[in-house]
Amino acid sequence: MKILVTGGAGYIASHTNALLLEKGYEVVAIDNLSNSSPESIRRVEEITGKKIIFYKGDTRDKNLLEKIFSENDIYAVIHFAGLKAVGESCAKPLMYYENNLMANLALADVMSKHNVKRLVFSSSATVYGVPKKLPLTEQSPLSATNPYGATKLMGERIFSDLYNADKQWHIILLRYFNPVGAHPSGKIGEDPKGIPNNLMPFIAQVAVGRLPVLKVFGNDYNTHDGTGVRDYIHVMDLAEAHIKALEKIDNYGVEAINVGTGEGYSVLDMVKAFEKVSGKTIKYEFAPRRSGDVDACYANCDKAEKELGFKAKYNLYDMCRDLWRWQTLNPNGYED
Ligand code: NAD
Ligand code: WQD
Repeated sequence: MKILVTGGAGYIASHTNALLLEKGYEVVAIDNLSNSSPESIRRVEEITGKKIIFYKGDTRDKNLLEKIFSENDIYAVIHFAGLKAVGESCAKPLMYYENNLMANLALADVMSKHNVKRLVFSSSATVYGVPKKLPLTEQSPLSATNPYGATKLMGERIFSDLYNADKQWHIILLRYFNPVGAHPSGKIGEDPKGIPNNLMPFIAQVAVGRLPVLKVFGNDYNTHDGTGVRDYIHVMDLAEAHIKALEKIDNYGVEAINVGTGEGYSVLDMVKAFEKVSGKTIKYEFAPRRSGDVDACYANCDKAEKELGFKAKYNLYDMCRDLWRWQTLNPNGYED
């Protein structure tokens, strides 16, 4: 069974590809490599001993999509392709709307024409905006606080409208919380370009001496130690959630499902856990709050368990251990 994976060389996609191949699916991947390296594709092939059919190109390119759907009998699509940096989306909103929304439209159009109507879409906890009540359930109010978040909210809307117009579609909108960690082999992981925006890759780069000090953004939040609390989920758990979504997709029209652990950890909790696992001291200093950050954000995961039979297995130490292995084996990411 062939699965088309858009953004297939990216961080979450590469881990999902590894699991798809292990479970016996065939993977067809498309990526324009704007935020990734073809080396991730090669490494997944190395881990699994199986080939990926890789198309270098843009998900907005309908001619290329036509070619892919003509050359391959695609069972379902997992749509990861998108730009994802919140700060960059505020600086370059048009680039984000153009990339993320046009990719959705082109993909949906070509899928319709080829009568491939099973889709798993990478949504995000960002669609909950500033949480009013925790934990967040799928019924919590939705809003966007930045252009990136707006593209995810609009993506959900586009795919929901598509289902409303044509009930043959089966669409699962997976709302990821904070994906971290790496494949247990240490061969694939997150490889941010430039200085990482996100906490865990930043910590890992401080630990290997690539960055001098972690700035902890705010220590006056309304949390147990004053630093921001988030729901970190191991990327291998997240990959598993995609497999479950594919297995159950025909049960649904369009459905939004949270993918987290339900546990909230603070920045300092993460620093301590990483220090414990790595044996390194993480140098940090407190800095002002980062604009747009919220005190706390974590998921109610009941729906994923009830509907998909998915429950996260990996804990905080597993996330830190696997990230540390990836970082020490590949201190400069895929460049090594
Ligand atoms: P990533 O940047 O590693 O992967 C995205 C991939 O899409 C990259 O390889 C990039 O080159 C590719 N891409 C971007 N635009 C493209 C286009 N127009 N055509 C073809 N390829 C394109 O990011 P990731 O963390 O693996 O995220 C995957 C998806 O999950 C994204 O849609 C992201 O918004 C979403 N998401 C990520 C997080 C997170 O914190 N990592 C959280 C929630 C949701
Ligand atoms: C986590 C915590 C920071 C860096 C982002 C996106 C979200 C989703 C996941 C895609 C916060 C603190 C961070 C640093 C720090 N992505 N921090 N120093 O902001 O929860 O979510 O990624 O959909 O949309 O907004 O993740 O890892 O950036 O931050 O103190 O150098 O770490 O303030 O409390 P965030 P993050």
